[in-house]
Amino acid sequence: MSRAADLITFNEATSAEAFASRFGTPDDATARLLSAVVGQVHELIKEFRPTQEQWRKVIDFLTEVGHASDERRQEWVLFSDLVGASALVEEINSRRPAGATPNTIRGPFFRTDTPERALGSSISLDGIGEPLEVEGRVEDLDGLPIPTAEIITWQANAEGYYENQQPDLQPEFNLRGLFRADPDGRFHYRTVRPAGYGVPGDGPVGRLLAQAGYPLHRPAHLHFVLRAPGFETITTHIYDESDPRLGEDALFGVRPELVRPFETDGRSGTKVSVKFVMIRARPGKSK
Ligand SMILES: [Fe+2]
Repeated sequence: MSRAADLITFNEATSAEAFASRFGTPDDATARLLSAVVGQVHELIKEFRPTQEQWRKVIDFLTEVGHASDERRQEWVLFSDLVGASALVEEINSRRPAGATPNTIRGPFFRTDTPERALGSSISLDGIGEPLEVEGRVEDLDGLPIPTAEIITWQANAEGYYENQQPDLQPEFNLRGLFRADPDGRFHYRTVRPAGYGVPGDGPVGRLLAQAGYPLHRPAHLHFVLRAPGFETITTHIYDESDPRLGEDALFGVRPELVRPFETDGRSGTKVSVKFVMIRARPGKSK
């Protein structure tokens, strides 16, 4: 066969194949992934049939996302988070047996240097907001306590802001704490009720989604990381059941088992009870 006969003529039907056929080692993982991504892009172009001008706008948007990213702000991560890609990767990689507490994404406000506090103490250093008591238990799949568990929590204040977003307004480490479970796996601390908040809408990703009427909101929640020797680390949330916007979490973190009632009785104020179920570390799955 002549060399000319081997050539794949580039047209609408063959475009992805023409690209894929040029890889020297088509079985290489990078080649396979690139071929798949480019194949999907070609499919999208064929479906939506953009003009050159419209395609230019797509490239302009991607350029802007890059320019909006620096060491303090990662617009690409925000993009991945807001389109559900981060949650999907999390879901695929940290599937747990039924009954175990699911993982959700950590979000951008975690601090590794959270100070340890005594059980029962308050993490609200400025005392502003509606008092809330959090009590919980860390256990294994058989319901046995994990007394060595470390509970790290962080949350927004009553106005929906994290301490590291407002370094001039909130005391350092406000609404953050590291606790150690007691011999029965239990812990409790005092705080204030968190408010929901908007995700950054001032960059290219937020502007694009807001323009399309897409909600950029997170319902009220508490963040947790649970650690214990021999167990898989859990990164998760607890959501306030009464938040009317539970169904539109911009980061796709809401799972039924993570939604809890924040119950108020006249005498003791508002309280939420939580239970975290950890599983033994699995080979190759450590975090
Ligand atoms: Fe949050």
